[in-house]
Amino acid sequence: MQALSMLHVFFVLLATCLLHSFAAPHSKKNCRCLPADECWPSPSIWSAFNATINGALIKLLPPGAVCHDPYYDQEACSVAKAQWYNPSWRSDQPGAMVDPSWEGTNRTETCSVTTDRATPCGQGNVPTYAVVATTSQQISLAVRFADKYRLRLVVKNTGHEFRGKSSVPDALSIWVHHLKAITFSDNFVPAGCRGNGNTAVTVGAGAQWGEVYKAADQRGLAVVGGQNPTVGASGGYIQGGGHSALSPYKGLAADLVLQYTVVTAKGKEVTVNACQNSDLFWALRGGGGGTFGVVTSTTFTTFPTPPQIVAGITATSNSSTDFETFVGDLTAEFPRLSDAGWAGYLYYAGNNFLGAFLNLANGTSAASESLAFLTNYKRTRPSSEVNVDVQILTLPSFYAYFNLTFNMQTLPMPGSNESSPAPDPNDGSSSLVTSRLIPRDAFLQSPEKVAKAFTSMKAPSTILILHLVAGGAVARYPPDHIAAHPGWRNTLLHVVAVFPTSGTPLWEIAGPKPAAYLNEADATEDIWKQLFWGDHYDRLKKIKDKVDSKGLFFCTRCVGSDEWSEDGNCRI
Ligand SMILES: Cc1cc2nc3c(=O)[nH]c(=O)nc-3n(C[C@H](O)[C@H](O)[C@H](O)COP(=O)(O)OP(=O)(O)OC[C@H]3O[C@@H](n4cnc5c(N)ncnc54)[C@H](O)[C@@H]3O)c2cc1C
Ligand SMILES: *[C@@H]1O[C@H](CO)[C@@H](O)[C@H](O)[C@H]1NC(C)=O
Ligand SMILES: *[C@@H]1O[C@H](CO)[C@@H](O)[C@H](O)[C@H]1NC(C)=O
Ligand SMILES: *[C@@H]1O[C@H](CO)[C@@H](O)[C@H](O)[C@H]1NC(C)=O
Ligand SMILES: *[C@@H]1O[C@H](CO)[C@@H](O)[C@H](O)[C@H]1NC(C)=O
Ligand SMILES: *[C@@H]1O[C@H](CO)[C@@H](O)[C@H](O)[C@H]1NC(C)=O
Ligand SMILES: *[C@@H]1O[C@H](CO)[C@@H](O)[C@H](O)[C@H]1NC(C)=O
Repeated sequence: MQALSMLHVFFVLLATCLLHSFAAPHSKKNCRCLPADECWPSPSIWSAFNATINGALIKLLPPGAVCHDPYYDQEACSVAKAQWYNPSWRSDQPGAMVDPSWEGTNRTETCSVTTDRATPCGQGNVPTYAVVATTSQQISLAVRFADKYRLRLVVKNTGHEFRGKSSVPDALSIWVHHLKAITFSDNFVPAGCRGNGNTAVTVGAGAQWGEVYKAADQRGLAVVGGQNPTVGASGGYIQGGGHSALSPYKGLAADLVLQYTVVTAKGKEVTVNACQNSDLFWALRGGGGGTFGVVTSTTFTTFPTPPQIVAGITATSNSSTDFETFVGDLTAEFPRLSDAGWAGYLYYAGNNFLGAFLNLANGTSAASESLAFLTNYKRTRPSSEVNVDVQILTLPSFYAYFNLTFNMQTLPMPGSNESSPAPDPNDGSSSLVTSRLIPRDAFLQSPEKVAKAFTSMKAPSTILILHLVAGGAVARYPPDHIAAHPGWRNTLLHVVAVFPTSGTPLWEIAGPKPAAYLNEADATEDIWKQLFWGDHYDRLKKIKDKVDSKGLFFCTRCVGSDEWSEDGNCRI
């Protein structure tokens, strides 16, 4: 009897092992569970999960679904059509990216608002479900659920990510958009730290820069943040380093973070600052969004907003030769402009420059004086057919400068037009956006070479965006202060080239160890580790392995992502 039952147990065990090895082949254990897989949770499991998060689970649809059967809704469809390219509307849609082309794997699968009602609407890259989080508790539960069922997990804030990282097919999305709390402190001391406090603002994961600036301005304060009101404050922007027209005055946005609260891969909410979880604190300041945990709030340093001296600069010409000479003259001046306290943005398209600079270091007369080479350009080059115009004005606050200038950012970008979609990361096509950090040395050693690269890159409809957002205070922080590429500290300009279809980036000027800003980079860069983090990569990888050993937080060309298959679904 005893022997028989032992044998029985043995056979049962053997059968169970065999069954398991058929149902879940070994290789699959390293893979995420997708909707087509047996291991995907059943409807009743989803429903039970939904109950634990107070019904915050939604089935995610592409934003264009309201224009197609069976989801057709006439009113919602006309809103979607009218707002289709509006980044503010897009950031309010749980299934939308700011660039619609990231929502579809390819043109046929895209759920377009321009096709008719009967045309099927494909799910494209839009995740299967989303947790519309209003509390950290829901985020913790979602992380644990994704871990337990080996789901593909993605965090989305505004969907502004230029490389499409916040739109992933067959995934569970944690949407942090509704965590909007904004609270100010006159004497913020990071939890567990000693010493004098700072003036600071703590914002929920969903707060967007326009909201933060407005609230700060009402208290006479400014914060170093992005140049568009809809960019999220706590997500990809800050975790990628974050640059601003205020950066040369105060530092990169991430240099000024005092504390985060974070839901880790274990589903636990922790406080992260210089005195506790300091490795994670370092990583979350430049290591990239979507990689180390879900940030639930960020505390930023605030400071009184001084009057802003603003220079609106335009230069135009009908002569390409003269304009190239002008570009050469201007390029040679960049180190001096930076030293004189100028910061801001210049757009270079056709034979035109358009931009707005900000100066917080010098008074109006010193600031005007430092732009004399522009105002007196006709005197320097009497025969030049370039018209240069400089308007200097003083604005009461950073918010006033921001209000005046953010619209410059809404120049045509790839994907802002259905007929010129952004590159698809899956189809191997060449990219349309490419960028580099250009070291100050390049301008000192050979401004002619830098200018030549700019003028050569600029084909008829290419736009170069010159961001004068480094130098000054950015250069004064030690290179290892935060995880952002140490190359930021000797950078003068961050240059983004936007090619209409294709173009030749001429980035030799970035030097032998080039760096690029991970938030505004080519989605297809090969040497991404070196470009985005340089010497900081190895330390970041160690932190990643410590805080997320199972790789729950995967994104393409993010720390540790090369240990996964191209689609991010299987560990290799
Ligand atoms: C119009 C526009 C203007 C811009 N201006 C600037 C600028 O002035 N300066 C600048 O530096 N950059 C700028 N950017 C680039 C911007 O920094 C990136 O697009 C950034 O990724 C946006 O972050 P997000 O959280 O808003 O976007 P999302 O697409 O929601 O998220 C971006 C990444 O962060 C992750 N993520 C989001 N929220 C969290 C969270 N709470 N915890 C963990 N991970 C999270 C996502 O998974 C994704 O990988 C601009 C972009 C746009 C579209
Ligand atoms: C989750 O629960 C809420 C509230 O009961 C319900 O409205 C919603 O449809 C559920 N989500 C899913 C995906 O079933
Ligand atoms: C679009 O994607 C689907 C699914 O990946 C594929 O079957 C189809 O061939 C693709 N179509 C085009 C035009 O690339
Ligand atoms: C360019 O040419 C047009 C038409 O001849 C003229 O109106 C315009 O003023 C010229 N612009 C410059 C900057 O010389
Ligand atoms: C402007 O301010 C900077 C920094 O305070 C100073 O070094 C520089 O000399 C000033 N420039 C002018 C033209 O006054
Ligand atoms: C900035 O613009 C917003 C929205 O238009 C407005 O409410 C606010 O008063 C403006 N603030 C300043 C300082 O210009
Ligand atoms: C989209 O681009 C095409 C080709 O460049 C252009 O003809 C069209 O007017 C653009 N449409 C919009 C809505 O900008």
